[in-house]
Amino acid sequence: MTAMLELRNITKQFGGLTAVNDLSMKVEVHEIHALIGPNGAGKTTATNMIEGVYHPTSGQIFFKGQDITNLRTHEIARLGIGRTFQNIKLYDTMTALENVMVGGHQLTKLDLFPSIINPKGLMEEEKMLKEKAEMFIEYVGLSDIKDEYVKNLPYGNKKVLEVARALMMDPELLLLDEPAAGLNPSERAEFVDLLMRIHSEGKTLFFIEHNMDVVMNVSHQITVVNFGAKIAEGTPQQIQTNPEVIKAYLGERYKVK
Ligand SMILES: Nc1ncnc2c1ncn2[C@@H]1O[C@H](COP(=O)(O)OP(=O)(O)O)[C@@H](O)[C@H]1O
Ligand SMILES: [Mg+2]
Repeated sequence: MTAMLELRNITKQFGGLTAVNDLSMKVEVHEIHALIGPNGAGKTTATNMIEGVYHPTSGQIFFKGQDITNLRTHEIARLGIGRTFQNIKLYDTMTALENVMVGGHQLTKLDLFPSIINPKGLMEEEKMLKEKAEMFIEYVGLSDIKDEYVKNLPYGNKKVLEVARALMMDPELLLLDEPAAGLNPSERAEFVDLLMRIHSEGKTLFFIEHNMDVVMNVSHQITVVNFGAKIAEGTPQQIQTNPEVIKAYLGERYKVK
């Protein structure tokens, strides 16, 4: 079967620095796949290339068999790849609901021209976006705070809100850059529940995460990178017992139970 996502020998150089080095990997359909590795290993850069924020210096990226290497971010989002960010990117002076609606605007942006000539169409579109945003806010459990300004929300709520916004695009593949970072244990448990719910609805998840309890408990497959290059790939069991991974990354931080 064609993979949901395939990175084929991708390299990214920033000046003289090789951030991602000849990385090849596949995320299979309906898999939960984690990308782990030390800070600076190139994980966020890899995600940014998948989303078209950067284009690789060399190599190719395929989404469901289609070459997306040189597409732009909104084209890639439209094809069905959603994302959340390592550093939360929400609009502080907009409400939670409005922020989620923005996620859907990205989907309809290119269709706005007819709406400009037809203001009634625009209003209908706004209404549809609003209903959809309300549905996803409820789905992630934030209905209570939907009218709060984002600047007044606790960090944990913002992390969850980003997921609701990403869902507005109806992504088949969801990329999450350190989704559980900064969450306390109970928020983290709720977040994992949310991810499992999203997965159970047929979505494929590809996430970067440092919390090894989260990674080892939810992942089907794990890819490990160090200095931009892949050093291991396998099931949680295989990764936990891989000497090179323990040396480069896991060390004393995660003990095999
Ligand atoms: N836009 C950029 N310009 C220059 N260097 C960058 C840029 N983005 C990332 N880097 C560098 O690339 C390397 C990988 O960074 P990053 O992908 O953020 O790592 P990770 O997410 O694994 O912590 C780091 O050395 C980082 O400083
Ligand atoms: Mg990062």
